[in-house]
Amino acid sequence: MKQFQTSDALKRLPEQFFAKLAGKVNRYVEAGYDIINLGQGNPDQPTPAHIIESLQQAAENPTYHKYPPFRGQPFLKQAGADFYKREFGVELDPEKEVAVLFGGKAGLVEVSQCLLNKSDVALVPDPGYPDYWSGVAMAEADMQMMPLLEENDFLPDYSAIPESALAKAKLMFLNYPNNPTAAVATKSFFDETVRFADVNDICVVHDFAYGAIGFDGERPQSFLETEGAKDVGIEIYTLSKTYNMAGWRVGFAVGNPSVVESINLLQDHFYVSLFSAVQEAAAEALLGSQKCVEDLRQTYESRRNVLIQGLHDIGWDVTSPAGSFFAWLKVPESFTSEGFADYLLENVQIVVAPGNGFGEYGEGYVRVGLLTSEEKLREAVERIKSLHLF
Ligand SMILES: Cc1ncc(COP(=O)(O)O)c(C=O)c1O
Repeated sequence: MKQFQTSDALKRLPEQFFAKLAGKVNRYVEAGYDIINLGQGNPDQPTPAHIIESLQQAAENPTYHKYPPFRGQPFLKQAGADFYKREFGVELDPEKEVAVLFGGKAGLVEVSQCLLNKSDVALVPDPGYPDYWSGVAMAEADMQMMPLLEENDFLPDYSAIPESALAKAKLMFLNYPNNPTAAVATKSFFDETVRFADVNDICVVHDFAYGAIGFDGERPQSFLETEGAKDVGIEIYTLSKTYNMAGWRVGFAVGNPSVVESINLLQDHFYVSLFSAVQEAAAEALLGSQKCVEDLRQTYESRRNVLIQGLHDIGWDVTSPAGSFFAWLKVPESFTSEGFADYLLENVQIVVAPGNGFGEYGEGYVRVGLLTSEEKLREAVERIKSLHLF
């Protein structure tokens, strides 16, 4: 069998750190261990019934069995605009300022293809969601990491970015509520971001994947609520987390019309948009009853309370997440992130994601998902207690 060489673009792709972790975990599962897996980011609840029913009915519509319009159904783009108006008071032109995506991940990788040339720089949060790196690598551009430090509430310090990198920077990724640190952004930070991006001609890509999940009465802010945001950037919204629709692959890029147009142009060459029945169900999710969203948010908040209270009770001094469905926990001093993750897996069969997988500044932390029942989270706390580490 011939072994064909991949393109240089594929060779540049970063290693999938978490695929390695999944392999390790599978060996424990196959050996019959009772694993508590807190390492992943896959919502554990089903999609709400009214959205599934909408898909079932729409699947019978014969016009939907044909190719959908290239740039998505107008009714879905209108639903995206109506959603932004209702939720955030943001006005969007559905045809020029909304692009339909195959999930947020696709848009986050595509935007680098759309805006970056070889040797341009993308400003990337560290720790951060690893898919930002993939698009930048494919475009043969360079990354300037922006450390997210606890002492800065996990917000980047723009004044620390070297001048040489700033001169070449074309794109910046941000993500609040943040994966993995669970931090949220403030209005003043977004105001500063708009000024910084404007002065330096940088396109901001705000990944708002956890936009529906804020705790303690604090509602996460859309970047587009910030004055001038549309002039300097876009926001990527996904239905994956808000409506437990991770498997459906529906998202949007919204905001700056020139960036939306370039994403649409790229997608014209890759795809013919989503199955129209999925688009109809997605519109139902955005426009129908939002009670499911509030119920889900409360579920995560209760789980967070159980986990954080439990860890405090056993003497682990951890910070309570402000949003997202993750907790970002500092590991005991004698451990590295990976060492601690291995220790938990080997001794009490708990899976957590080592922080260094999200970048250099993730070292010293592990990420824990709130994606299992309160009962399982209590059991996880009991198992950690039995290690007498704190
Ligand atoms: C920060 C962040 N952005 C984007 C995504 C991608 O979500 P999707 O491609 O399902 O829309 C995820 C998924 O885990 C995420 O954690």
